[in-house]
Amino acid sequence: MILTFIGTAGSGKTTLTAKFGQYLEKEGHNVAYINLDTGVKSLPYTPHVDVREMITVEQLMKSGLGPNGAIVKSYDILTPHAKEYANEISKLEEEFDYVLIDTPGQMESFLFHDFGSNLMENLREPLVVYLFDPNILKNLYDYCFVRFFALMIDLRLSATTIPALNKIDIIKNELEYYKKYLDNLEYLSSRLRLDPSTQGYLAYKLCSFLPDVISSVRLLYLSAISGAGFEELETVAYEHYCTCGDLT
Ligand code: GTP
Repeated sequence: MILTFIGTAGSGKTTLTAKFGQYLEKEGHNVAYINLDTGVKSLPYTPHVDVREMITVEQLMKSGLGPNGAIVKSYDILTPHAKEYANEISKLEEEFDYVLIDTPGQMESFLFHDFGSNLMENLREPLVVYLFDPNILKNLYDYCFVRFFALMIDLRLSATTIPALNKIDIIKNELEYYKKYLDNLEYLSSRLRLDPSTQGYLAYKLCSFLPDVISSVRLLYLSAISGAGFEELETVAYEHYCTCGDLT
């Protein structure tokens, strides 16, 4: 099973890769780890495949590029090798129960660059977990946004994408409030409908359309730190591979 963790900078991809991997290992599974982040300095797991062996952001910055230019350049350098990386990952998938892929800190380096899409299209049924942080959920539009964003990732990478709220350990008291809007799209729509602003109308229209296309995809609630939700993540991964993408 190949699980790819995608999310904005600091959403917890690297921590989750390490901690979920440890959890699976304790359960008796063997796990391979892949690092696709050219900018990361140190990792809490030992990667079986590491793009930093080919190029790092640090090397490119030493040659005069700024941080953003160096990130883009690093993926330009990796792109012609995307298929080789996919082959290496596919070989590991035959050998290991789980392959966990940790993606670049800046999500756009993976989503909007050919390296990410070329790699993903050469993997067999990868499951993507889109991590978002509770901090992004400030108003009702944001709930609609994260659910839509998971769909956009699915579209861009042609891979089933599960949205996952990470860091639930920091919102223990408010978790039920978050779940009310994230899980119940009808309720969310009914609240958005009361908003007279242009954005309210847009979010209402988008949100009303969501059940047609995502009713079958569950949402996960995780804490990479405490391990909350790991069992559910394991179950979703298992179901994905047993049913080829049907996560009802
Ligand atoms: P970059 O690749 O550097 O962009 O970040 P990332 O998405 O890999 O996140 P990382 O795992 O480095 O975590 C960023 C910060 O969030 C660290 O300080 C983690 O300890 C913290 N963090 C990650 N997951 C959780 C979580 O579930 N709960 C809490 N409280 N903190 C977390």
